[in-house]
Amino acid sequence: MSDRNILVTSALPYANGPIHLGHLVEYIQTDIWVRFQKMRGHQCCYVCADDAHGTPIMLRADREGISPEQLIADVEKQHRADFAEFGVAFDHYHSTHSAENRMLSSLIYQRLRDSGHINSRSITQAYDPVKNMFLPDRFIKGECPKCGAADQYGDNCEACGATYSPMDLKNAVSAISGEKPIEKDSVHYFFNLRHFADMLAGWTKAGHLQPEVSNKMAEWLENGLQEWDISRDAPYFGFEIPDAPGKYFYVWLDAPIGYMASFKALCDKNGLNFDDFWREDSTAELYHFIGKDIIYFHALFWPAMLHGAGFRKPSAIFAHGFLTVNGEKMSKSRGTFIKARTYLEHLHPEYLRYYFAAKLGAGVDDIDLNFEDFTQRVNADLVGKVVNIASRCSGFINKRFDGILSADCAEPELFRQFIDASGPIAELYENREFGKAMREIMALADKANQYIDEKKPWLIAKEEGRDAELNAVCSMGLNLFRLLAAYLRPVLPGLAANAADFLNIGEESWPAQAQPLLNHKINPFTPLMTRIEPDKIAAIIEASRENLEKTPTSPVPTGAGGAKTESAATAAVPVEAIAEAIEIDDFARIDLRIARIIKAQPVEGAEKLLQLTVDLGMETRNIFAGIKSAYAPEDLEGRLTVVVANLKPRKMRFGVSEGMVLAAGPGGKDIWVLSPDEGAQPGMRVK
Ligand code: MSP
Ligand code: ZN
Repeated sequence: MSDRNILVTSALPYANGPIHLGHLVEYIQTDIWVRFQKMRGHQCCYVCADDAHGTPIMLRADREGISPEQLIADVEKQHRADFAEFGVAFDHYHSTHSAENRMLSSLIYQRLRDSGHINSRSITQAYDPVKNMFLPDRFIKGECPKCGAADQYGDNCEACGATYSPMDLKNAVSAISGEKPIEKDSVHYFFNLRHFADMLAGWTKAGHLQPEVSNKMAEWLENGLQEWDISRDAPYFGFEIPDAPGKYFYVWLDAPIGYMASFKALCDKNGLNFDDFWREDSTAELYHFIGKDIIYFHALFWPAMLHGAGFRKPSAIFAHGFLTVNGEKMSKSRGTFIKARTYLEHLHPEYLRYYFAAKLGAGVDDIDLNFEDFTQRVNADLVGKVVNIASRCSGFINKRFDGILSADCAEPELFRQFIDASGPIAELYENREFGKAMREIMALADKANQYIDEKKPWLIAKEEGRDAELNAVCSMGLNLFRLLAAYLRPVLPGLAANAADFLNIGEESWPAQAQPLLNHKINPFTPLMTRIEPDKIAAIIEASRENLEKTPTSPVPTGAGGAKTESAATAAVPVEAIAEAIEIDDFARIDLRIARIIKAQPVEGAEKLLQLTVDLGMETRNIFAGIKSAYAPEDLEGRLTVVVANLKPRKMRFGVSEGMVLAAGPGGKDIWVLSPDEGAQPGMRVK
């Protein structure tokens, strides 16, 4: 075994829905950390799997008229493709519906049972008499027993926040069949968490959890531990309990065991020793990256299960916060519930990797994806600072020196400063302080740019007899760029690989010992990254809205983990929620004017846009409007409309847009440009 043997996991995504940007916070965070460990030369394995079991998956397959096996196979393919394109490089990706997981789940269950940690008794639950199945809380709807709000789910009220048992709902119906549920008894199996109260009290305070998580656990432990119901009745998509026909393991029992199962499959593939990592006294490191919503399962149930079954417990659990978009919960109606795939259709994945890295720290705070900030940071940092160094220096090297770098290092002291930063930057990566690491790296990039600004190679190049100096300065710039690319490699593996190709060097390990490249031939420079164009973001939001209109809304909630985004019920309403209130002064800043559309024409290469020439009374303007699906150009010519006249001109791919035409509607054919009454004149202010 090497100096550090590390096994890392991300939470297993449910196999009933697509990967979205919220998920990616976690997979990108984990992937960065794993890539960093590998760059440092440690043995580090990153495993994950689809979480394939449970009622929602069974019901969705039902609705689609396919088997659950077919559904989870289809979804797994999409998940794998999304992860691969975002550069999330698992050493193995498995499924909880696998032979390894069945074997390990049975083994752990049997060990817990034989040690007296499992008991069974009969409980009463809501049952759908038409569908012939017990109903999980989230599949029962009715009126809140407290405030009477209609259409509430079986466990809590979204109107007044009350929590209750589904039996208390008034006029309850099954969300699956619409039928009134009956009460029915059945035997359930329970894992007795109380047996582990002392162990957990110690473990949760022993440095395996972030301080804020550890405090939360102390609260939970004080309130006393309950028995955990680990069985579900048929019909259920999962593993049948070995000694209890017709009873299945609850999805959350076999899900974390899926971490072990995926690693087992990796061991069988590449000859690693499973027991070295999982036996009780293992010295290997085991880390689980998770979202803050599933801490309970990972910090209480999971260590207890492992302990009770004679396996080692995690070295640490790293919880992160939730993603918000533009300061709000991701929302289908606002177009901010963005699927990984939708993003990939418009923007480069490494932009998002960088942005998340820049925002992530070691704590559990939520992180916000603000599109303006996103555009600005990526453009300023990556394109404006990092890539810029290479593009400023490479031209001279290739044109004037045959691509050969200077034989001497012009500024050994500056180079040394960059190498000295490797220790602090590594420590930040190690501690998951990625945001701080990015700031350190950008401070170095500033230094490199400053150096070039001071030396002004573009002026040196114009003077005779200063060739050696020109070569030295540009070579210095490229040597600094090389270190920046290496430091960014965990975050931007694609950019780093392209940079290494351009510099004609191999894959970089952590550059703590790096020497400058001297008298070394580089390759011609090709742009490593281009700026984010704001219209791409508009397109993503637009496409995410459309997704909603096209998909029939499901009658049942998706995801077994509860409502992490807007509930299906609110998301289905085609009318958008009213945005946050603004002050009258905010409104007064918007200069709305009547305009006459004097010319309208299609835009080559743009599916949705029309190019409009509008008369504002005092001037004419060129405006691009996304209304082509609703209007033929000739129908618009001559019409009056309302435009935002003081919108800053925006450079779009097709030209500059000098204002915005106001229109309403959900999209497609249903868009209406605002038309003022007869009597309005171009240029009139609208108030
Ligand atoms: N299947 C369970 C995990 C089982 S692990 C043994 C599950 N799946 S999930 O698909 O709902 O979520 C997978 C991971 O993504 C979780 O860690 C969850 O916290 C994270 N996220 C899901 N939505 C998220 C955001 N909006 N923001 C950040 N992380 C999010 O839970
Ligand atoms: Zn209520």
